[in-house]
Amino acid sequence: MKNSYNISGTDSTVYDCSLIEMPKHHHERGNLTVVNTEQTVPFDVKRVYYLYDIPGGESRGGHAHKALWQLIVAVSGSFSVTLDDGHIKRTFLLNRPYLGLLVRPGIWRTLDDFSSGSVCLVLASEHYDEDDYIRDYNDFSRFKNETSASTL
Ligand code: TYD
Repeated sequence: MKNSYNISGTDSTVYDCSLIEMPKHHHERGNLTVVNTEQTVPFDVKRVYYLYDIPGGESRGGHAHKALWQLIVAVSGSFSVTLDDGHIKRTFLLNRPYLGLLVRPGIWRTLDDFSSGSVCLVLASEHYDEDDYIRDYNDFSRFKNETSASTL
């Protein structure tokens, strides 16, 4: 499964993004969830970051990536992730530490409705690169339309 990037960022749709249920090792002493590259996510994890202390009513994201893959996990609390491929939007509620949302390149994402004390863990396929961001929605629309034009 490693590096099976068979849909380009320009062609990706929200239906190519999915919730992944990760293995949960339940124990009286507490639970443990593992994310295995190759088995759980179709990319090698190069970077991990997390959002925390998010003030009530705040939203994050509001951008797309040209090549970056991500797995987004609510390791504590809950929040909503709205994905947008330029045509269709899908909103996912992340509220379990063993659920990960796989987000492909070329998808605009917005995170909001953070519960108090929630922590958003993100596993990413590449190191931080500002050039990989599309931060303007009009630029995003153009990026997605380039595809359609090039595949006509
Ligand atoms: P950004 O990705 O815009 O945050 P969000 O999508 O969660 O709202 O990043 C916010 C700031 O953090 C931005 O100025 C760049 C910095 N940053 C890094 O330096 N390295 C990273 O890996 C990430 C994700 C962000």
